Order: sequence, then structure tokens, then C-alpha cells
Amino acid sequence: MCDTCKKKFYITTPIYYPSAKLHIGHTYCTVAADAMARYKRLQGCDVMFLTGTDEHGQKIEEKAKAAGVTPQQFVDNIVTGEKGVLDLWKLMNISNDRFIRTTDDYHVAAIQKIFRKMYENGDIYKGSYKGKYCTPCESFWTESQLKDGKCPDCGGEVHDAQEEAYFFRLSKYAGRVRKLLTETDFLEPKSRVNEMVNNFIDPGLEDLCVSRTSFTWGVPVDFDPGHVVYVWIDALFNYMTALGFENDKYDDLSKFWPADVHFVGKEIVRFHSIIWPAMLMSLDLPLPKKVYGHGWLVMDGGKMSKSKGNVVDPYVLAEMFGVDALRFFLLRTFPFGSDGNFSNELLINTINIDLANDLGNLVSRTTAMVEKYFGGTLPAERAAGEFDESLISLVSGLRDRVEAQMEKFQFQNALEEIFKCIQRANKYIDETMPWALAKDEANKARLATVMYNLLETIRICATLLLPFIPASCEKIFAQIGAGADVQTWDTANVWGKLSQTVTVHKGDAIFPRVDAEKALAKLEELHQEQLKSLLPALEVEPYLTEKVDFDTFCKSDLRAVKVKACEPVKKSDKLLKFTLDDGTGTDRQILSGIHKFYEPDELLGKTLVAIVNLPPRKMMGLESCGMLLSAVHTEKGEEKLHLVMVDDSIPAGAKLC
Ligand code: MSP
Repeated sequence: MCDTCKKKFYITTPIYYPSAKLHIGHTYCTVAADAMARYKRLQGCDVMFLTGTDEHGQKIEEKAKAAGVTPQQFVDNIVTGEKGVLDLWKLMNISNDRFIRTTDDYHVAAIQKIFRKMYENGDIYKGSYKGKYCTPCESFWTESQLKDGKCPDCGGEVHDAQEEAYFFRLSKYAGRVRKLLTETDFLEPKSRVNEMVNNFIDPGLEDLCVSRTSFTWGVPVDFDPGHVVYVWIDALFNYMTALGFENDKYDDLSKFWPADVHFVGKEIVRFHSIIWPAMLMSLDLPLPKKVYGHGWLVMDGGKMSKSKGNVVDPYVLAEMFGVDALRFFLLRTFPFGSDGNFSNELLINTINIDLANDLGNLVSRTTAMVEKYFGGTLPAERAAGEFDESLISLVSGLRDRVEAQMEKFQFQNALEEIFKCIQRANKYIDETMPWALAKDEANKARLATVMYNLLETIRICATLLLPFIPASCEKIFAQIGAGADVQTWDTANVWGKLSQTVTVHKGDAIFPRVDAEKALAKLEELHQEQLKSLLPALEVEPYLTEKVDFDTFCKSDLRAVKVKACEPVKKSDKLLKFTLDDGTGTDRQILSGIHKFYEPDELLGKTLVAIVNLPPRKMMGLESCGMLLSAVHTEKGEEKLHLVMVDDSIPAGAKLC
């Protein structure tokens, strides 16, 4: 196919808010879009895969202030800094063709032009906004949109707010947008259409507030200083400015617009399926062909969020389990359109069952047998036999079945089809029993056929797995001796493309089995550390409000005491027994539950402070006459204790007052 005849395919992910490091939930959509882009390239399409970051808004302004940096420095750090967004996509082997930052000059200038155009055509007008405002979501809501009086998106508190603002005539497009959603396949899955129509369109679309005066970190409205463009105009048009709309930086608009699909998370479907088409209608621009609203990865049924301490760090998981294992898990385990409950157990199970047991074993068993029985190179002789046909017919039709699922963004089903073939091939080994065939030289041709059928199954499956686990597929191809000419979409549909006299190269296990117990313990340890890091750095006991009069205070007899001996109390983890010189000439014994904090030897000779007129108490059968004073607090969730020590020049028995 020549370059100009190639089918074009333009796919986008949402652009991410760099208000915090990305977690595994963010990775989900980008990995899915990457699989889709790779699949389309494999099919021979001319692909444009766009992702990026959405860097303006009040939340960023506030976070930067709290961090003591400028908003630009703040976002630069999260986007381009170490282990930032760009690093993450590189690690995850994301093959985006372009990356847009909404702070890029060309985008900012284009947004100003777009805003002005809509103002000039009358679809943006100036008014005053009164409503319920949710600061974290930067959204105004009407009373009727609130859920139990709270923000319908994040469930947080809202407050009354009013400001002079520009509005977009969203209401004008309600009818056309409704038609688009109900009469075409613009929005999928279909369940999301009802949600949009019933919750937003039919109750009445109100005009949308599209500027702010309450913060400055945004694209300035160039004809009205003090106003900045509200993030959704700024954010949504990234899909077009990144192709050169209203700017000279790029020149791909006519080639790639309209987009074939926008992948978006379910909570931003509203913006993409109602507001976005309405804005495009306002400017008389072609609409994207499809918006696909995928589900969320949740944990224990709840949203992933830093404050819950359950953010799953893709860096940690990729390092522990491998990038491909993580990519595979995300798309194999959950149907793309619905929510999926993430758990580490599930991740490890998927790796061990599908990748280590099924795929990994098939590759290593097959290559090991070809090496053992044929010294690595298959002879040309063949002998067909029982079981061949059922394997070959299943695998021969695989590419089309995968394609049918990929076209519907059903990654889980596409992988299911591939793994049915992998499982079938493992069963074929048990059925044909190569080890038995190998015992008799007369079976050589039959044994070679069995080996070939296995290698050919692996070749076809690995080709179809390329969009999901590209690096591992390269390793598989190297092991089974498949050259670049037989790793193509066209050859994935034709049985028998692998050379009949192929040479294999058995290598290391591609997907080592994960020791679940060890891995879970390690993850739990990391989780605990993470929880601790979320706790306030320092906590002290609350101050008592009840006043104590001076005379009562003076009734406590505080004395300097010197440690003559100190030892742990038998059968107690906590107690230390102190023998103290209190200046009276008679040793004083005090028991104190501080063994967790001190070893007895380190306290010998120290001058401590004790209350000496407390009534004696018995602990573990021993008498304690008084109490040692200490300072206590909590640091990152851990209890800390320091005995009060005074200068050693202070004599035993000195009164503290
Ligand atoms: N900046 C907007 C998007 C503008 S697009 C013109 C935004 N950014 S975001 O960083 O908050 O979210 C980006 C995407 O990550 C959204 O599609 C959101 O649904 C997705 N996810 C965030 N947490 C997620 C999960 N736990 N699971 C799956 N996707 C999740 O929204």
C-alpha cells in the first residue's frame, strides 16, 4: 500500500492533569490506546496517536503555591522531571506519535483564537455566574446537579460562588447533540448514552461557564484581561491544535481530523460527548467519529486516590513484575467499558496463569523439544496426524476473530481468543506426546510436524500479541526463529508461513513465575511505608484544657535521680527495672515500660527525672516507687519516647521545681 492510499487512524487519550504523579488507573487508558495504535499500525494504517498533559487551572496554581514554586515549574517537574509523565510513558513502551502540553506556546495562542472566534460568532457571551462551586473539580454546579448537596463528580463540598464570566451557548446545541448521541454510534459503550441523555441533556442543558477570574494560571482571554479560559475549552481543543488547528506548528489537520476515536474515562464522558461536539458544531468543524468511555480501575470498590493511601505506583509494579506483564494484565483482566477491581493478587494470578503457565511454558517447552529432538533445526519431512486439524483450523481463523474484537475495543475478548489457541496448543502437546514419538526414529517426520505446528501457533499468537506485549513478542520471535517477514498482520492469517526448516534458539524464560507470597509481602511492606508517608510528620498529644492550680502542681515531688543499675524485667517485653540513687542513701526501684526505646546499658550513669511521691505500684510482682519523666510524640505514625535527662553535674536528689 502506498503512503497516500494508507488508511488513516487518529486516536487520543485524555490529557492528564499533572497535579500529582500518575497512578495505575491513569496508565490503563494510555496502555489501551497504545495497544490500539500498535494494532492499527500492524494492519498497515497511517496512525497518529496523541497523548499529553492538561496543565492549567486553579488546582495546579494552588499546589504550586503550596510547594513554593511557580505553576510552570510545578508542572514541568511532574511532566518532564524524573519519574514524571514522559518517563512513565517511555517505561510503559507507549508509542505515541505526539505529545501535547497545554502550556505549549502554539496551543495557548490557538486557544485564544478559538475563544475569540466563538465570541465573534455569538456563541460565547459575557454574563455573571452564580452557582455551587467545587474547587478540586473547578466546576460550577446547579442545585439540581448536586448529589446529596455535594459535587456529583468527586463527592466533595461545594460553596456558593458568583463571578463575571463568559458563557458558551451549550443550550443552543442540545437538540443536535441529543440526536448525535441517540441516533449514531458516536458514543460507546451504549450504556453511557442513556446516562448522558437522562442525567444531563433531558433535564435541560444550561450554558457553560467558560472563563474564570478567580485565578490566573490559564490561557488569558486576550480581549478581556483578568479572564482566563476555563480549562475545558483549553483542554478539549488539544485534540485539534496538536494537528495544527489555528497554528503553524503542525500541518496534519486535514490528514487526521476528524479523530477516529477519543478514549476517555467515564467521568469525563460528559465533556467529550456533549460539550466537545457542541463546540465543534459552533465552529462548523467535523466531529470526531467516536468517543469511547472506558471504566475505572477501582480498589475495593472505591476510587484510587492518594489520600486513601492505595495509589498503585506503576513504577513499582513494572519493576517488580515487568512492563509487559503490567500492560497485559490491564487489558486481559477487565472489560474496557466497565469498572475493574484491581488487586495485587489478581495481577500475580494473571501473570502466573496466562503468561508463565500458558504462553511462557508453550514457548519454552516447544523450543526445548526442538533443540533436544532435532538439535534446534527442524527437518523438512512431514507427516500429518490426529489432532493437527483441530489446532490448525482454530489458529488459522484467529486473526479475524481478534480483529473483530479490536475494532470494538474489546481487548479482553481479543486476548481471550488468543489464549484459547495457546491453551489448545498446550493440550496438543499432551495429545501428541512428542516424548513418546521421540523414542522411535520412524516417527521423525511426525515429530517434526508436531513441532512445526506448535511453532507456527506460537508465531501467529505472538504476532497478534504484538500490540499488547511488544517487547516480549520480539523475544518470542527470536526464540522460535521467526523473521520480520512472518511477523506481519497479513501473515498472521496464513498458516504455514514459518520456514519448514526453521532453527530455534531456546533462551531464558520470558515470563518467570512470580512467587506470590514473597511479592505480596513486599507490596504490603511498600503499602505500609506509603501509608506512613501520608500521616502527618509529627503529632503531639493534645494539650489539656483543664487548669491545675499551683499548689496542686507543687504537690508532685520531682527529683534528679542517677541510674545505678538497669535491667529488663523477666517475661516482659516492655519493662525495665531501674535501681536509682535518689540522694537519700537508700536505692529507689522504679519500673518503666520503655524497653522498646532504650537498651538498659545505654542508660547507666544517666541523670533522669522522677516523680518520687507517687504511691508504690506492683508490676509483674515487683514494686515500683515513682515514675520516670519522658517526652512522647508520634512521627509518621510511629511512637517516639525520650527520657528526660538533666545535666550530670546535677546531684542525685536535687529537687526540680
Ligand atoms: N485533564 C482531564 C482530561 C482532559 S481531556 C481533554 C482529566 N485528567 S485526569 O488526569 O484527571 O484524568 C485523566 C484520565 O485518567 C481520565 O480519563 C480518567 O478517567 C482517567 N483515570 C483516572 N483514574 C482512573 C482510574 N482509577 N481508572 C481508570 N482511569 C482513570 O480528566
